[in-house]
Amino acid sequence: MKNEHRGRLTKDGIRIYETADFAGMHTAGALAAQILDDVAEHVTVGQTTEELDRLITKMVEDAGATSATIGYKGYQHASCISVNHVVCHGIPGPKTLKDGDILNIDVTVIVDGWYGDTSRMYVAGKLPRKAERLIDVTYEALMRGIEVVKPGNTFGDIGHAIQTFVEANRMSVVRDFCGHGLGRVFHAPPNVLHYGRPGNGAVLEPGMFFTIEPMVNLGRPETKTLADDWTAVTRDKSLSAQFEHSIGVTEDGCEIFTNSPGNKFHPTYG
Ligand code: MF3
Ligand code: CO
Ligand code: CO
Repeated sequence: MKNEHRGRLTKDGIRIYETADFAGMHTAGALAAQILDDVAEHVTVGQTTEELDRLITKMVEDAGATSATIGYKGYQHASCISVNHVVCHGIPGPKTLKDGDILNIDVTVIVDGWYGDTSRMYVAGKLPRKAERLIDVTYEALMRGIEVVKPGNTFGDIGHAIQTFVEANRMSVVRDFCGHGLGRVFHAPPNVLHYGRPGNGAVLEPGMFFTIEPMVNLGRPETKTLADDWTAVTRDKSLSAQFEHSIGVTEDGCEIFTNSPGNKFHPTYG
């Protein structure tokens, strides 16, 4: 059987993996999460995002794993680092972090052919109050989305859980980027929207592997992509935050593949 053609496809083209495949996803997810744990102490005022990426590149290599993003559609780095009003796909560079900057670091590794994709928020220096609220709401939105993942519920239920919570907090959900199926490939069906209506979309089945990775803005949801063709920013320059887990649907719920080994997924700031 060809490597990436395990299991079967649903009528919506979503791959159903086998019970034995969860182990590979746990191993890949744990490495991605460990790297995000280990980079935390390096997120400091005056640090550059390219130095953070260099450290991440080395961590991937030292683990004997492969970066999924280096060479992906021409992308050249082991991480995306999205600072303040950057929504996602921020390119690591020489700019230094300032006191109060918030940043998302997104890492995807390949271990034995399995993909582990996760991102979380960090702060340089002291966390501003408004940014703290944004980060808390974004984290909680992801976890509320994960809570409704079980067979029989739909992808629309996930989006609805996220959207209603975010909007109740007077923030907005980005529409221009979504989560995705993954497993033996990086990006596969379905598009996992972070907004939606209950009961809409494909029905969740055991063996589906996908990410949930809501991006939440303090202002309006619209984004634009900069001339580098990667960096997505909020059109209104408002702050944006994101958290991402890779998960697998089980008989009665789901397993998170990218839990933080050091319990550092949600930032607790002093
Ligand atoms: N890790 C991102 C995601 O969550 C994808 C990054 S693709 C890159 O799907 F090329 F920008 F790195
Ligand atoms: Co992803
Ligand atoms: Co990611």
